[in-house]
Order: sequence, then structure tokens, then C-alpha cells
Amino acid sequence: MKFLLKSSAVAKLDVDVLTVFSSDKQNIDLPFLPKELISLLEKSKNKEKFEAKDGEFLVVAPHGYLAAYKLLIAGVGTEEIFSYYQIQKCIASTIRKINEFKPAKIALVIPPIWLERLSAPLVTASIIESVELASYRFMKYKSEGEQNRNRNLEEVILQVMPNKLARCEEGLNIARYSAKAVLFARDLVNEPAAVTTPSYLANLAKSIGNDAKGITKVTVLEKEELIKLGMGAFLGVSAGSAEEPKFIRLHYKPQKSRKKVVIIGKGITFDTGGLSLKSAENMETMKLDMSGAAVILAVFSVLKEANIDLEVTGIIAACENMPSGKAVKPGDILTAMNKKTIEVLNTDAEGRLTLADAISYAVIKEKPDEIIDLATLTGACMVALGQDIAGLWVNDELLASQLQKSAELTGENIWRMPLVKEYKELIKSGVSDIKNIQTGKYGGAITAALFLQEFVGKTKWAHFDIAGPAFAETDTPLTPRGGTGFGVRLLLNFLSSK
Ligand code: BES
Ligand code: ZN
Ligand code: ZN
Repeated sequence: MKFLLKSSAVAKLDVDVLTVFSSDKQNIDLPFLPKELISLLEKSKNKEKFEAKDGEFLVVAPHGYLAAYKLLIAGVGTEEIFSYYQIQKCIASTIRKINEFKPAKIALVIPPIWLERLSAPLVTASIIESVELASYRFMKYKSEGEQNRNRNLEEVILQVMPNKLARCEEGLNIARYSAKAVLFARDLVNEPAAVTTPSYLANLAKSIGNDAKGITKVTVLEKEELIKLGMGAFLGVSAGSAEEPKFIRLHYKPQKSRKKVVIIGKGITFDTGGLSLKSAENMETMKLDMSGAAVILAVFSVLKEANIDLEVTGIIAACENMPSGKAVKPGDILTAMNKKTIEVLNTDAEGRLTLADAISYAVIKEKPDEIIDLATLTGACMVALGQDIAGLWVNDELLASQLQKSAELTGENIWRMPLVKEYKELIKSGVSDIKNIQTGKYGGAITAALFLQEFVGKTKWAHFDIAGPAFAETDTPLTPRGGTGFGVRLLLNFLSSK
């Protein structure tokens, strides 16, 4: 899709659909539209009882007063409450509406107030990302006819005030790589688990390394090396699978770097639960269990374009969680790379086992300033925060506020959760150092985070439980059912902010 920024006269924009936004406060006060059209608008507004509420639309034929053949007024409700998240929702539902007309070319007249109250580059990026994300479909496995039916929109013009043009241009540059990265992550999550095996992810990582011409180096550790490193927890999870585990390390080093960050993604390419087998219903969506890994690969695919000036290491401990004669059994005790022993009481709590070794490796071998992990870790986090919000656990206040800021600026919703010291009791084991499930049934997302903390030591660390927002179970304006790419924009914003 092609995006253009323009400051030319609205009436002359030669597009199929011209879209303007109207809040319920203004009496359709759109000074940039021809006078004759305004009176026409007033008429249809009264006839159709259009109140410019959030999500309300008015479609008008411009009768030759515009170059566009259709005019769409999108209601945005009250103009007081403003956030990047709201703008994205508004653009996404508007795009859904616009697509009903199957236009090839559209223009969006950006309300000046958006660019004045918030950062103009980030508003522009938000808008462009939303257009791309709302238009996304995973069509690879559909027959051809259906693929073509959905390919309409080619060009999107953002009409902005002349004095904001340069700032908006910056946003266009951000969206060029961020939208691409989110779509990359979505495609990867939506691909069936039969395709996205651990070795598929390893090869994909290598191809990202080759594309980046020397700035990104990719290494893949095979089973024998993992045994030597003592990654008993990761190897335990992979034991039941016919697919070999792959420990993937991507390393990006620009000429000058301000600090070293390790980003880790949970990479269970399919989670059956292992011998603690999931129900058929709970297993249906479990190709999503590599969503964290997809975020890491997506971010790495654009790090150079995004001009990141940090040293970044990406780590993915990729394997399947399968039941078999070789699978780890409840009651087994595994030893992680940092020598801590873990009693496995439920083989479905496998993510924390693979992450135990990924985090240990990061701490011991990389010695980073900060570690950030993203994992579809617990159903309990979905119970706590629902499907749209990720849980954030973090042991450092500055890192916490930086990540919260990035979440706000990218419209990716997160909520900080506590690392409750007292709950550590709940994961003590009688036979080993810790156990992989808790005593009792409450606070499962917190005890999972506390489990991970056992491997972090003194390093600054943040953990995102993205079990809810990684995957849309139904169609939403910004995402059709499937992978969402949640976390990509947040992480890119975090890595690029000073
Ligand atoms: N991958 C799941 C968590 C999950 C569930 C992600 C639903 C997305 C949607 C994880 O490995 C898991 O199975 N967790 C268990 C832990 C329990 C056995 C302590 C859970 O949440 O039920
Ligand atoms: Zn599981
Ligand atoms: Zn899992």
C-alpha cells in the first residue's frame, strides 16, 4: 500500500473516498469543505440523525463539489479524551467502513487537533499502522478468487496542515518499518505449526541475519551443544517431540551503542500440554504459543531500518511441547543452566521451563544491562486482564516507566502487575529448589513471573505475559481472527527512544 502526505486543497483530492472526522461537539464544522457541500451535509445529517458519535458514519454523494466520488464523515464522539489507542481504533473502524466501497484510492483528512495535542509523528505512524493492520488478511491458504476479492486499497493520502508536514513525514518513516514488522509477526503466528517448526524458525532467523549484511549475526545451537551448556529445563520440554530443539540467538551491533538489551520470546511452536494434555478445545489455538518468538524475529527484521543505536540480542528457545514415550513426566526433576533444580508437576507449564534456560543463558553469557521477555505464558493472565491487555512484571522502576511510556505511545495496552515476594512460598518444592506449578489455584500469572525471576539474578528485567493480546479469537477492527503481532510496536518504540 502506498501512503502520501499532502497539504493541498481537500476539494481537489482526486480519490474514490474522501474521509473527514467529526466530533459530536462541532456542528459539522468542516471549514475546508466547499460551502455548498456543507449545506448538503447539514441536510443529510438531520435526515439520518447523525450525531457524530464514536463509530457512527455518514455517507454523502458530493454532487461534483469534490473531486472524490464519495464523502465519508466518521464520527469520533467527544474530542476531549485522546490517546494513540483511540486514534487507532477510530482509524481501524473507519477503514472497515471504507472497504465496503472497495476503493483503490482514499484520502483521510487528519483533524488538526490530533496533531496538536499528541506528537505529530506518532499520530501519523499510528494512523498508517492502523490502515495497514485493519486491511491485513491471512490469505495464503485461500483459493485464488477470494484472494483477489480482498485486494482493493492501493493508495492512501493523509491530508495534514502545511505546518505539520515535516513532522508527519517522520511518522511516515516510522510506520514504514513498524507496520511491516507487525504484519511479519502476524503471518508467522498464523502459519500452521506443521510449517513453523523449530527448524523453520531457525532458518528464518538465519535469513534475517543474511539480509542485514553483517550487522546482525545469527547462531543456532543444536541439541548436543544444549546438553553441554546444561540446559536441562529446555531439553526436558523438547524431549517428547520428533522435532529437534533449536536455540536461536540473533545479535545486532551498530557502530555506536548506548546499552545492551536482550529480548527473549517464548518459542513453543505447538503446545499440546505434553503428558498433562490439553483438552481439544484448549489446544485449538496453540500454534499461537510462539507469538513471543514471532515478535523477536519481526523486530530483528527491521532493526537496521529503524536505526536502533543499542546492542540487541534476541533469544528464542524453540521447541514443541508434545506427549510421547520420551516426554518429560510429572514428578521428573530438571536442572536448568544456572543449576537450579525444578520439579515438573504439570508438563503444560512448559513455557517457564524453556524461558528458565533462555534467561539463564542471557544472564550468564550475554551480561546485558536489561532483559525483556515476551511470552504467551498463562491462561491466568487472561483471567486477570482479559484478551486485550498484557501483564507487565518488572524489577526496576526506570525500566518500568520506559516500557509503560512505550505502551502508551504505541497504543499497545499493558498493565503493571506485582512481583509479590510472599507468593514465592507457593512455588517451593519438597524435593527440588522450585516446582513449575504453584500450590493452590490463585495468582497463577504472578507465580509464573516469580518462577522466571528465579533465573534473573540482579539483572534489570521485564516480563510481558501476552497470552491474551497475542491472538484475536474473533475478528476485531484492527485484527482479523488470528495473530495480532502484539508487542512489536511497543518493543520497537522502546528500543528507539533515548
Ligand atoms: N501456552 C499456555 C498459556 C496460554 C493459554 C496461552 C491460553 C494462550 C492462551 C501455557 O503453556 C500453559 O499451558 N499454561 C498453563 C499453566 C498451568 C498448567 C500452571 C495454563 O495457563 O493453564
Ligand atoms: Zn502449556
Ligand atoms: Zn505454552
